[in-house]
Amino acid sequence: MIRHLISAADLSRDDALLILDTAEELAQVAERPIRKLPTLRGRTVVNLFYEDSTRTRISFEAAAKRLSADVINFSARGSSVAKGESLKDTALTLEAMGADAVVVRHSASGAPHRLTRWVRGSVVNAGDGTHEHPTQALLDAFTMRRRLGRLDGLRVTIVGDVLHSRVARSNVLLLRTLGAEVTLVAPPTLLPIAVSTWPCEVGYDLDAELPKSDVVMMLRVQAERMNAAYFPTVREYSRRYGLDGNRMALLPEHAIVMHPGPMNRGVEIAADVADSPRSTIVEQVANGVSIRMAVLYLLLGGSESGTDRTEAAR
Ligand code: NCD
Repeated sequence: MIRHLISAADLSRDDALLILDTAEELAQVAERPIRKLPTLRGRTVVNLFYEDSTRTRISFEAAAKRLSADVINFSARGSSVAKGESLKDTALTLEAMGADAVVVRHSASGAPHRLTRWVRGSVVNAGDGTHEHPTQALLDAFTMRRRLGRLDGLRVTIVGDVLHSRVARSNVLLLRTLGAEVTLVAPPTLLPIAVSTWPCEVGYDLDAELPKSDVVMMLRVQAERMNAAYFPTVREYSRRYGLDGNRMALLPEHAIVMHPGPMNRGVEIAADVADSPRSTIVEQVANGVSIRMAVLYLLLGGSESGTDRTEAAR
C-alpha cells in the first residue's frame, strides 16, 4: 500500500479495490450499537483545512474517531495562518506534535504534495485547488459498486464545471483504473484545455448521453473559483446542462444520479431530482465515512486485528 494519498493516479487497481473492500467491511461498524474499533488507538490524525468544507472535514473526523484515533482539527481561520504563517511552518508545528496522518484541504493545487516533504506522517489530500480529491472519487466508486454491483464496463457521465472540479479529475483517473468508461459533458468554456489527454470521452449534448449512462454525476458550478464569465446566464446553463425531471426520464431504468455536494439546487440539479430515489447524494455522504476509515486504516497500517470483530466487540 502507498504511504500518502495525493492523487487518484497513485492507486493501482489492486490498491483501489483493497480500499473499496476494506470500506465494505468497515461499513458494518456503522450498524453496530457501538460504532467504534480500537484499530488506531494512540495514533494522531490532524485535519488541516485551509478551505471551507462541511462534508469532507466532518467525514474524516468521524472516520478517525470510529477507529479510535486522537483527532486534532485545525482550520486556517482563527489560527496563526491568519497572521501569515506559511504552510511549511504550520507543517513543522504538526510534526512536532507527532501527527501520524495529516488530512489536508488547500486552495493551492499541489499543497498536499508539498506537505509530504515536511511531515513524517501520511498525507491525505482532501481537495487541493482544482487538482484532485481522491477520497471523493473512492467514495463515488464505492457508491456505484454498491448500487449497481460492478464498476467494470460501467458508463459514467460527469456533467458541468469540469474546469474547476477536482472531483471530476480524480473520478476520471480512478474510474479508468477500475475499468469504467467516463464521458464528460460540459460547455467548452468549462473544460480544461488538457482534457484531450485525459482517459475519457468528451460530449456536448447531455440529452444524447443520458440514455447510454449507468451513472450521471452532476458537478457544482464553482462560482467562487470563476474570475470571468464562463456561460451567458445561470438560466441558460441550467437549460443546457442542468438535470431536471424531464432529463432524468431519459436515463435507463437502473441508472443513478450522483452529486458530491454542496449542491446549487435549481442550477445544475433540480430539487426533485436531488430528492428522488435515484439520487445517491445522501448515501455518498455516509459512504464517505467508510471510505475514509479504510484509507486511514490502510495508510497507517492499522493493527493486525484491525477489523477483527472479537476485539471490536469488547
Ligand atoms: C467538492 C469539493 O470540495 O471539491 N465537495 C466535496 O468535497 N464534497 C465539490 C464542490 O465543492 O463542488
